[in-house]
Amino acid sequence: MNSLWLSTANSKNFETLYTSLNADVCIIGAGIFGLSCAYYLSKAGLKVIVLEKDSIGEKTTGHTTGKITSAHGLFYNYLVNNFNETFAHDYLFANEEAISNIKNIIDTENIKCDFEYKSNFIYTTNKSEVNQIKAEVETVNYLGFPANFATKTGLPFEIAGAIQYKNQAQFNVISYLNGLCKAILNNSGKIFTHSTVIDVKNTGSSYITSTLEGNVESKFVVLASHFPFLNFPGMYFTKMYQSTSYVIAIEANQKIPYGMFISAKEPIYSFRTAKYQGKDILLICGSDHKTGEAIATNEKYKELEDLAKKYYPDCNILFRWNTRDCISLDKIPYIGEFSSFMKGVYVGTGFKKWGMAFSNVSANIIVDDILGKENEYKEIFNSKRMKPVKNRWEVKNMVVNTANNLVFDKFRIEPYNIEQIANDNGAIIEKNGDIIGVYKDTIGKVYAVKPICTHLGCLLTWNNTDKTWDCPCHGSRFDYMGKNIYEPAIKGLKTIKI
Ligand code: FES
Repeated sequence: MNSLWLSTANSKNFETLYTSLNADVCIIGAGIFGLSCAYYLSKAGLKVIVLEKDSIGEKTTGHTTGKITSAHGLFYNYLVNNFNETFAHDYLFANEEAISNIKNIIDTENIKCDFEYKSNFIYTTNKSEVNQIKAEVETVNYLGFPANFATKTGLPFEIAGAIQYKNQAQFNVISYLNGLCKAILNNSGKIFTHSTVIDVKNTGSSYITSTLEGNVESKFVVLASHFPFLNFPGMYFTKMYQSTSYVIAIEANQKIPYGMFISAKEPIYSFRTAKYQGKDILLICGSDHKTGEAIATNEKYKELEDLAKKYYPDCNILFRWNTRDCISLDKIPYIGEFSSFMKGVYVGTGFKKWGMAFSNVSANIIVDDILGKENEYKEIFNSKRMKPVKNRWEVKNMVVNTANNLVFDKFRIEPYNIEQIANDNGAIIEKNGDIIGVYKDTIGKVYAVKPICTHLGCLLTWNNTDKTWDCPCHGSRFDYMGKNIYEPAIKGLKTIKI
């Protein structure tokens, strides 16, 4: 099922690129980050071309929950303890500025996107965690933001305590992107959709970004494709993994809470209201897991639906969708130059589920760099940072997991027989010593692919809710016919006749 945003605000399409063009900046990806860069750069008078392989915002941005906030869980004590107070302060105010920057764009360009200021609460139902919440309130206040401790939130269950951030925001992100597109075109920018980039080559004085049918020559390139699809020299696949979470939108048929809410500790659930056909509805999000992990995906939606029914027994489920996020190993986004060996190529990634605010933070840092201006937040998100990652558990986990999926699982899996696969289901079978990924559609027609990821060769897992082959190493996804949907892989899977 499509997300609420993609169902209610038509995602735009433009021409496909069939020719060779020149620009100052070529931006790869028309999600909120890529279009925010294009907006600021075109407004500054630069010649900008945006290349998108699908429709506008169709993938990651169109599947978010659309919350613009600096309240990223109980995070500021983590930042103070693992970095320092200045770092935590700058992280907080970079995100706060992003909220007002987005509001400014909405006002300047007169974008109708259901933007609303709301409080964001990080709550616990567990009395033993209240002291941690209070300590977070103290730290955030010390950093200069007036958060407060709350015990009343409007949630349909008792809480033990919460930290409240006022003046955070929410919107319909696809309507916002449609407004950005209009402004970019008015500023003489160009946008091409259904134009898949396959390579970026350095000519010495410029870069040639090639799509399947055309190319763009430019001095600067921005990789805004969620997970950078260029492996080298940046090697971001060694420093990030992807996480999938699930969202349902319900019509509650009773009073719903006014605000945005997220639990402080596992299991993480978040709530926000949204507009649908003139009514306020409730979004419930959570049940996350590492992308590509073999799980019964329908169970994830059921978990959210059970939660909704517990508090809103008469609710109707209107929409279900899932979303994915890149998480860096130190939990800080990578923003800036892709690598010291590719001057003029920029990246913004690892937004850790907070991509609405971070897309604007990133756009400002990168645009300032291209325009030769200083940006006070540039250093803390430095994409080329080499500092040892303090989160050793996460590093070890990622290395072991990737190694397992690259090598050992190919010998460890227990393949099915094709007869064992039910209609509308998929699994890996073995034939003449080769492993084959098989999906049988609802009438039993077989689609077979080589289930090895075209990024770096990990064994794929079957996702029966989305009917996709997902990679447990870095989160690439492919449809049942082998077409690549999500990066970092860009090539499709080999199809097999059986
Ligand atoms: Fe890297 Fe699949 S995404 S190997």
